[in-house]
Amino acid sequence: MNAPLKQHLIDPEICIRCNTCEETCPVDAITHDSNNYVVDAARCNLCMDCIPPCPTGSIDNWRIVGAPYSLEDQFSWEELPKQEQIATGDGAEAIDADVQALIDSAHTGAGGKSVAPASALKPSVNLYNRDSAAIATVTGNYRLTHEESDVDVHHIILDLGDTPLPVLEGQSIGIVPPGVDPDGKPHRIRLYSIASPRHGERPNHNNLALTVKRETNGVCSNYMCDLKKGDKVRITGPFGATFLMPNDPAANIIMICTGTGSAPFRAFTEWRRRAMPNATGRMLLFFGARRPQDLPYFGPLQKVPDSLLGKYFAYSRVPGEKKVYVQDLMRREETMLAKLAPSPHTHIYVCGLKGMEQGVDSALDDICRSAELRWADLRDAMRSEGRYHVETY
Ligand code: A2P
Repeated sequence: MNAPLKQHLIDPEICIRCNTCEETCPVDAITHDSNNYVVDAARCNLCMDCIPPCPTGSIDNWRIVGAPYSLEDQFSWEELPKQEQIATGDGAEAIDADVQALIDSAHTGAGGKSVAPASALKPSVNLYNRDSAAIATVTGNYRLTHEESDVDVHHIILDLGDTPLPVLEGQSIGIVPPGVDPDGKPHRIRLYSIASPRHGERPNHNNLALTVKRETNGVCSNYMCDLKKGDKVRITGPFGATFLMPNDPAANIIMICTGTGSAPFRAFTEWRRRAMPNATGRMLLFFGARRPQDLPYFGPLQKVPDSLLGKYFAYSRVPGEKKVYVQDLMRREETMLAKLAPSPHTHIYVCGLKGMEQGVDSALDDICRSAELRWADLRDAMRSEGRYHVETY
């Protein structure tokens, strides 16, 4: 038998098919089909270049194998296989200590494994792909930011008609933009978080809403922001099996976001409001934008009662005022957050700009220290219990 080797794999349940890893890999070891992103063991040199850019951590998976899983194996997976027991010699049953150490390290990636909240429903994933996309009809497309704002964010409502597309708050869908790039290849699929709750943007309708920011030269975002009522849109997914909402009315949900990172939190808030109006758990939203005019859902958010949602807005570019980031507001609310942090009912979600992640982490570190807690330990425990979730880009 060959010596056991460490094989790099991608978790199909968590991967959002954003193509970042394939673009990053310097040795072209990563490829995909309409189902999965996969790693070619014959090419991968374990250089780790693909690990930091992955927005979900799905890339950070490893198995010790006697013979590597083939690309065909990986294309067919719905979930990662469990770590096999590896025999290391002729009939040997015991695993060498160094191999065991590799196996142990395989279970804890750099950011720790993402885990869904214990009370979350099991989501459906990957029901539709490019070749079998679900077709939706646009029933609404509204600008969310003030007319004076340079930030053009849209609330787009898509009706699925008779096509089943079960989703949960926190999941994303893919949009297939029409046409081809200058090389004649179909445009890349883009992923958007769903901004509406599981039973529809309009309750009990088979529709959903997305929050889309127009990006300069963005093929898909410009296509989406220009959609008209009645236009047809091709959808893939749904994606995401861990950034989900606890289904427990006692759960405290602390949500920290910038810009369109607010989309899943709109979904969380609407589901709580509609399904659990008497929930005992608290919902808090720390939301960062340049100015009030640039903050998506600014108007509607003012109408959400404080009893349902505590709102903390951080503005960074209001003329004549000091730059404020979400992490500054969290520090300001230290007493409240330090009280909530150690509770086993508390869940923390971070969604939006990647740069925010570090600032939020160090704010939580300071807040915990004020309560004589160690954030690094608490964060590890919360993550492994499905109570700490980060989705940044
Ligand atoms: P800034 O004015 O410094 O760019 P955007 O509008 O680009 O999506 O950004 C949303 C908000 O996030 C802006 O207020 C932006 O501030 C802020 N932001 C930028 N970098 C960080 C960071 N490292 N931590 C927290 N907020 C940030």
